[in-house]
Amino acid sequence: MEIENKIQELRRKREQAYLSGGEDKITSQHEKGKLTARERIKFLVDQDSFEEFDMFVTHECTNFGMEKSKVLGDGVVTGCATIDGRLVYIFSQDFTVFGGSLSKTYAEKICKVMDMAMKVGAPVIGLNDSGGARIQEGVDALAGYAEIFWRNVQASGVIPQISAILGPCAGGAVYSPAITDFVLMDKKNSYMFVTGPKVVKTVLNETISTEDLGGARVHASKSGVAQFLTENEEETLTLIKKLVSFLPSNNMENPPRIACIDPVTRLCDNLATLIPDNPNKPYDIYEVIKSIADDGDFLEVAKQYAQNIVVGYVRLNGQTIGVVANQPKVLAGVLDINASVKASRFVRFCDAFNIPLLVLEDVPGFLPGSNQEHNGIIRHGAKLLYAFAEATVPKITVILRKAYGGAYCVMNSRHMRADVVYAWPSAEIAVMGPQGAVEIIFRKEVKEAENPTQVLKQKEEEYRNKFANPYSAASKGYVDDIIEPARTRVRLIRAFEMLATKKDSNPPRKHGNIPL
Ligand code: HXC
Repeated sequence: MEIENKIQELRRKREQAYLSGGEDKITSQHEKGKLTARERIKFLVDQDSFEEFDMFVTHECTNFGMEKSKVLGDGVVTGCATIDGRLVYIFSQDFTVFGGSLSKTYAEKICKVMDMAMKVGAPVIGLNDSGGARIQEGVDALAGYAEIFWRNVQASGVIPQISAILGPCAGGAVYSPAITDFVLMDKKNSYMFVTGPKVVKTVLNETISTEDLGGARVHASKSGVAQFLTENEEETLTLIKKLVSFLPSNNMENPPRIACIDPVTRLCDNLATLIPDNPNKPYDIYEVIKSIADDGDFLEVAKQYAQNIVVGYVRLNGQTIGVVANQPKVLAGVLDINASVKASRFVRFCDAFNIPLLVLEDVPGFLPGSNQEHNGIIRHGAKLLYAFAEATVPKITVILRKAYGGAYCVMNSRHMRADVVYAWPSAEIAVMGPQGAVEIIFRKEVKEAENPTQVLKQKEEEYRNKFANPYSAASKGYVDDIIEPARTRVRLIRAFEMLATKKDSNPPRKHGNIPL
């Protein structure tokens, strides 16, 4: 009898915890078009798979009469669940309790799941919706944040960390998502900034809206803080599931391999005529990526940022592959600061998590100009070089057209230890483009010529014949084979399969010094 009462009491307490900050606050959350912390988890994970921890935790703060307002769970829902049968750890901030603000005990709940995730080797997914440090707790709240940041860094490169921003994320709180591998933001309700519009107005006398200062569009296209931009939070949660499907659970595992229905010998006939006759004309790199990928499926990362380079995940014969591709349609596919930073971050993630890399190269070089130079294209471009050079996963490059200058070296060339380098017959591998090169090396001849234009043209033709093809590089073994574009998929699948057991390592050291 007594045990029955005790069970009833437990059920009552659970019901109370499920009510979080109360019905009014839940209604207000729904009115903003937002799900509650638990509804979000339910949407994200396999049915009935969520195991909640610390539902009965309450804060310990006694400042400003806080001891009188305690809510079971203290504003964050934590636990583990499965997505497509694979274990993940989750924390979901509950805006209905003190605006989702972070207390000492709240931070301890998050740290507990992060520690567990590290021990068992499973991703951590953070659903962020919070007013930041709980002001009444003072330094205890700050200490809680710092404990989380420290764990974010320990977990970096060990388990995938994914942050969905589903509401406010302000102050120092932004730095936890910033350290994680992927940040997703929706256009409706999410924003991130170190200091909000009010402080900006006071300090700088600058008037700016929340959206313009730190909304999803800004972070996806300008700052590069967010890698995924969605319409609403349901889309964000759905995207997390898809992202997880491409990733291994930790750095000691390979990404999950799925059954491939798309024939491995499928020819991509559309690629045979993709490259325009005029080398200065663009084409769309998405056509190459989608043609070679299993079922044309491509999960693009950082789509809105630095669109002159395209990065993301495909599968080849069911195996996850990280693609880095120049986009001739945007700025002729040139490498600039943003493209270098975007791609190097992506390459380093893939390398940390055993995801083989495929480079599709058509790059006229680095973007010239004082803007780029003064903002550090040397330092930022070096990041990409560094990232490819240190990557030890299987690395394959296909040179589709231009591979000029330093960009040739950087974009996973043979000399950066690419395992396999293929070129299409349209490849042009040279120190620079014909016009620029001829103007430099034949300056004297052109100056002295009766008809300089004709000499220029003739020399350009000579240069083109020598370098505007892949045979010079192939004759030296820098290119392993010249392949027919239509056979790119089949050749890549074979090459990645050949490399499946590749083992390589870098010299022992504490860590390298990437030019940050
Ligand atoms: C305690 C907080 C809180 C906070 C919100 N609340 N933020 N309580 N600490 N940081 C409470 C509110 O008092 C309110 O309680 C409830 O949450 C909902 O807040 P509202 O303001 O009514 O909601 P809304 O209008 O939607 O505005 C949301 C908000 C705003 C934009 C997040 O609340 C806000 O600006 N909060 C302060 C944000 C902030 O400056 N945080 C500190 C950042 S610095 P009641 O009981 O009235 O419903 C930081 C340092 C981290 O976080 C450092 C790490 C190193």
